[in-house]
Amino acid sequence: MADWHTTVTPPALARLLAAARLPEPATARRPAYRVLAGQIRLLVTEGRLPVGARLPAERELASALELSRTTVATAYETLRADGYLLSRRGAGSWTALPEGAPPPSDALHPVPPDEQGRTLDLGVAALPAPQPFLGEAAARAVEQLSCYAAGHGHYPTGVPVLREAVARRYTERGLPTTPDQILVTTGAMGGLHLIQRALIGRGDRVAVEAPSYAHTLQALRITGARLVPVPYGYRPEPEWDLTEWRRVLRGAAPKVSYVIPDFHNPTGALIGEEQRRELLAAARAAGSVVLVDETTAELGWGVPESVPMPRPMAALDRAAQVVTVGSAGKLLWGGLRIGWVRAAPALVRRLASDRVYSDVGTPVLDQLIAADLMGEPLPAVRAHQLDRLRATAHAFAAALPEHLPGWTFAQPPGGLSLWVSTGGLSGAALAQAGERGGVRIAAGNRFGSDGAFEHHIRIPFTVPAPAVPAAVRRLAATAARAAAGGRFGPADGAPPLAV
Ligand SMILES: Cc1ncc(COP(=O)(O)O)c(C=O)c1O
Repeated sequence: MADWHTTVTPPALARLLAAARLPEPATARRPAYRVLAGQIRLLVTEGRLPVGARLPAERELASALELSRTTVATAYETLRADGYLLSRRGAGSWTALPEGAPPPSDALHPVPPDEQGRTLDLGVAALPAPQPFLGEAAARAVEQLSCYAAGHGHYPTGVPVLREAVARRYTERGLPTTPDQILVTTGAMGGLHLIQRALIGRGDRVAVEAPSYAHTLQALRITGARLVPVPYGYRPEPEWDLTEWRRVLRGAAPKVSYVIPDFHNPTGALIGEEQRRELLAAARAAGSVVLVDETTAELGWGVPESVPMPRPMAALDRAAQVVTVGSAGKLLWGGLRIGWVRAAPALVRRLASDRVYSDVGTPVLDQLIAADLMGEPLPAVRAHQLDRLRATAHAFAAALPEHLPGWTFAQPPGGLSLWVSTGGLSGAALAQAGERGGVRIAAGNRFGSDGAFEHHIRIPFTVPAPAVPAAVRRLAATAARAAAGGRFGPADGAPPLAV
């Protein structure tokens, strides 16, 4: 369980409960205590109430909800019996998940090529290379390679042409940047790894969005960081809950706050400039470094060209507390393994020194290909990839309600995936059934820091649009098989929240 407990005030819990309305028949003819217990359980399993959150005392909650104290006491008792609440006399009650709730399983590896005909891969959220652009850029890069081949080929900070291309792109996006602020890394993961090694020690707290990108969460766990989840707010689109962020920043004083403000993975949410400023102010007051992951920042397939994008968080940062990672892996190609860190030149130099003891540098040829693609071809490459994502996103939005009417999702303005509430079906059970039924599925609990989001899955926009109806039919068949034994915990309170 988390070592720092957020305290949920009675009005805050009342607001969350109002948003978690259980539709009929879940509430019909049920005693009030069971409805309340079901709602609280739903908030915990959906990650809207972090595991380890301290709940109000019975009397206070009863008064805020205008219920009898006996109703609240019996609801708490029910939650305790089911494993969703832990209480210590005199100390209070905290939310929990019952033992036996499926933990996030091992890393989801891409389906190997020889299985691709049989297995539908909805696990990995990455696109194929944009062709013919990649092939053409690779041919030009090979021609240039002879200029580099005479040297040793080690560039701990990156090949100058790529550092310049990345800096230029930031400047175009409203954040003036010089090449000495850029460190080329082996994918965004390589950049995150270097930053974690430099800034985060065993036992340090790191605030993370809930949900968040599964691989970063796992990398942070491996580092020994203590994750403090900050649930998203919904109005109804997902956005940051700044009240909760302020509470966490003040109370837990996380050394680092990790956020994905642009077309967030997995929800696709885009955070507006005002919320970005407010989070920066709260983090500055708490002395927390803000680690901004911009891997998905260029994926605004639903944002019209005429609508200005919110500026990168580093452009709003007056206190030099932002460190940014980015990647060519989504717009260009994941197989290039090109990412970067944007930071103060001193930190760039430090990270470059550190990497001499890990991967030394990123392959020169891949850097030359990326630098080429980030030049003249970029607008056409971007249009090509965004057209593909948009078509697939629209195809899923059309096919899912037809075949899986109990599943709900908010259509995001961009990004790589739909974050889908599965109508009470366990995402882990669905993933298991998928393994047998020829579809690889990323269960929602991978994206929670503590096993939450049990009733979610992430559906990536990787399937070409014409193949989406068949993919959804296969998902529906898998869901039907999983439904038989796919729930954990008592089933009432399981209906979806409209996300
Ligand atoms: C938010 C986020 N960060 C990091 C990564 C990893 O990026 P890369 O492949 O460049 O290492 C991904 C990939 O999906 C991502 O979505």
